[in-house]
Amino acid sequence: MPMSDVARRWAPRILGLGSCPCLISAALLFASFVAGAEPVGAQAGAFESNRCADCHVATVSPNRSHVTDWQLSAHGRHGVGCEDCHGGDASTFDAALAHRDVGSSSNPSSPVFYSNLPKTCGSCHEAQLEAFAQSRHFELLDETGWRAPSCSTCHTDAGAFLLSSRGLERQCKRCHGAGKRAPHPENPSLARSAHENLVQVREMLEPAVRLISSIEDDTRRARLEQQLEDAQAPLTRAAAAAHAFTYDSFEELLAESRERVEEVWRQLANPEGDAQ
Ligand code: HEC
Ligand code: HEC
Ligand code: HEC
Ligand code: HEC
Ligand code: HEC
Repeated sequence: MPMSDVARRWAPRILGLGSCPCLISAALLFASFVAGAEPVGAQAGAFESNRCADCHVATVSPNRSHVTDWQLSAHGRHGVGCEDCHGGDASTFDAALAHRDVGSSSNPSSPVFYSNLPKTCGSCHEAQLEAFAQSRHFELLDETGWRAPSCSTCHTDAGAFLLSSRGLERQCKRCHGAGKRAPHPENPSLARSAHENLVQVREMLEPAVRLISSIEDDTRRARLEQQLEDAQAPLTRAAAAAHAFTYDSFEELLAESRERVEEVWRQLANPEGDAQ
């Protein structure tokens, strides 16, 4: 991020300003002065700053930790803005304009209303949505709005967190188990062991990536890199398929990935044998 953007992003906070947009504009002018850039108005929208985030960081906004989660997350890093989930106009510091299409998450018409999340998140994460849409959970969300897990149950609202195997089991156990509202108390441990298997294959794959990148023979490295990619593909598809919460196609894809990773390791162990 260029220095002037950094200054713009943080100046309101450093100056400890309240919620008044005019003060924030003043802070931005100050920031551009400090950074030796043009006045902000002259290049509004010309840089990739997110004004929702800037203002929500600078002001006493509701749900502060949510904004911090976002900043540190894959979403924050990959330019997925507040407006991608909430709607609104992220290019203005005028709160009324920015919020024009933004409602509270408790409003059923909001894109971040609990049961609308699969559609909102799924607009970017199609493979996960496709699997999720086959589940009983998805039907229930549609029917009842709340009684089943939605995307935020396991990934937090904006932070794109990933659960550990145990964390996943704990989530299932909130609803599945003796005396709980959902049947099939075996679901939590099924989910946990599916995830453990996924992690196991991933942990076989990762050191191979490093090893192969250090191979000097270009032809051999290129061939092994291709094989790694072929092993990674079903693993990615397996992680998406797990969003159906039944694990048949997950297991198939995972087995395919495991076989291919094992083949990569065989070739790494036996440099003479992999010529073809
Ligand atoms: C100039 C400052 C400012 C900007 C720009 C801004 N917000 Fe806000 N926002 C606030 C403040 C302050 C509140 C709390 C008071 C209120 O509801 O108006 C708030 C409230 C909200 C709420 C809660 C709404 C509710 O009804 O509970 C959401 C969601 C939200 N903002 C999202 C956004 C998004 C998304 C953007 C960009 C498209 C954005 N904000 C831009 C300052 C801002
Ligand atoms: C990946 C989607 C996503 C992104 C990105 C995101 N949010 Fe949210 N946000 C949500 C969800 C989901 C909720 C609802 C939480 C709940 O149900 O309690 C929420 C809740 C909120 C709330 C609390 C008020 C309400 O309506 O519940 C505010 C304020 C807010 N977000 C602001 C922001 C701001 C500012 C940004 C950018 C810094 C942002 N959000 C980025 C999904 C997102
Ligand atoms: C505008 C597109 C967009 C929307 C909407 C969106 N995401 Fe993302 N998401 C991304 C991008 C881009 C990444 C980072 C690159 C990647 O991992 O594909 C990402 C990454 C993720 C990751 C992986 C994080 C990691 O460390 O690997 C999860 C989990 C995730 N998003 C969940 C969600 C959830 C849940 C929602 C809805 C509340 C959501 N996303 C909404 C685009 C989006
Ligand atoms: C019951 C828990 C749960 C729910 C609900 C859930 N996920 Fe996931 N999600 C997971 C797990 C577990 C993983 C795999 C984590 C890992 O890679 O270790 C995952 C992975 C992801 C990833 C990263 C995929 C990758 O290959 O890195 C994305 C994106 C994602 N989920 C999106 C969604 C979306 C969108 C929804 C809603 C339609 C959703 N998830 C609902 C548990 C859940
Ligand atoms: C927020 C509550 C909640 C969470 C969390 C949750 N479930 Fe469910 N689940 C339900 C409800 C409610 C049903 C529907 C029961 C019915 O059909 O009456 C259901 C149904 C199912 C079904 C289809 C019916 C069956 O059991 O054969 C499967 C499979 C399932 N859940 C697996 C899981 C797994 C695996 C997890 C964790 C990754 C999980 N669920 C997390 C509430 C939840």
